[in-house]
Amino acid sequence: MDDQERQRLVDLYSEIAALAGGLAHEIRNPLSTMSLNLDLLGEELEESDNPRDQKMLKRIHKVQSECQHLNEILNAFLQFARVGELELVEADLNAVVRDFVDFYQPTAREHGIEISPHLESNLPTVKLDQSLMRQVLMNLAQNAQQAMPGGGLLELQTFARDGRVRLEFIDTGEGMDEATRSKLFDVFFSTKQDGSGLGLPTVRKIVQAHRGTISCESERGKGTRFSIALPAAE
Ligand SMILES: Nc1ncnc2c1ncn2[C@@H]1O[C@H](COP(=O)(O)OP(=O)(O)OP(=O)(O)O)[C@@H](O)[C@H]1O
Ligand SMILES: [Mg+2]
Repeated sequence: MDDQERQRLVDLYSEIAALAGGLAHEIRNPLSTMSLNLDLLGEELEESDNPRDQKMLKRIHKVQSECQHLNEILNAFLQFARVGELELVEADLNAVVRDFVDFYQPTAREHGIEISPHLESNLPTVKLDQSLMRQVLMNLAQNAQQAMPGGGLLELQTFARDGRVRLEFIDTGEGMDEATRSKLFDVFFSTKQDGSGLGLPTVRKIVQAHRGTISCESERGKGTRFSIALPAAE
């Protein structure tokens, strides 16, 4: 591909991304008006003992939950579209992981998940956008949690290898079959009833924006490992 062709594709992509982002914003406002009015309708019906009203209330709850789902998809989409400019600071990945573990620990405990960090000391520093990296950890943890409905073990490892700093995210959850594994990073691919399918595409976009790579190994019934490699700062 020559430079001109590449530029044409970048322009095209930017135009489509801007359009899609604008569309998501435009949908959000009427959706929130709908939601608000449904809440009000629901409140009125709640006061009635009339069976017909109760039936309507059920339907309203159904529509409310669909509105909420749509809103979650829009938020995930906007988050995905927003990953662009990074605010890079030289940081210790271990510190970022430790902060995350502190933050996530109470939720993990609630779900019967034990977190086991193995953080290699004296890691080289990496250039990170800390808030985006937190988003990566949060998304991976959420997936791990959803894959371990009965609880389990979540192992977080860091180590240095070949001039790169590695982060391994390992769960003992349900794992996935080959068909799922091959579509993991596709936008809107989800096996969950109310998944947006934008979690991992966002994760990969963030990792790649850091000039890093991400890969996944998984075995059905055994668990899943995500491996992230980031270039060490000079
Ligand atoms: N740790 C994991 N264990 C098992 N399956 C996983 C794991 N992580 C991801 N998956 C599979 O990959 C799919 C895509 O994940 P992704 O995070 O992109 O979307 P999602 O979790 O379905 O929805 P969202 O993250 O938007 O709520 C999931 O639906 C699930 O099938
Ligand atoms: Mg997810």
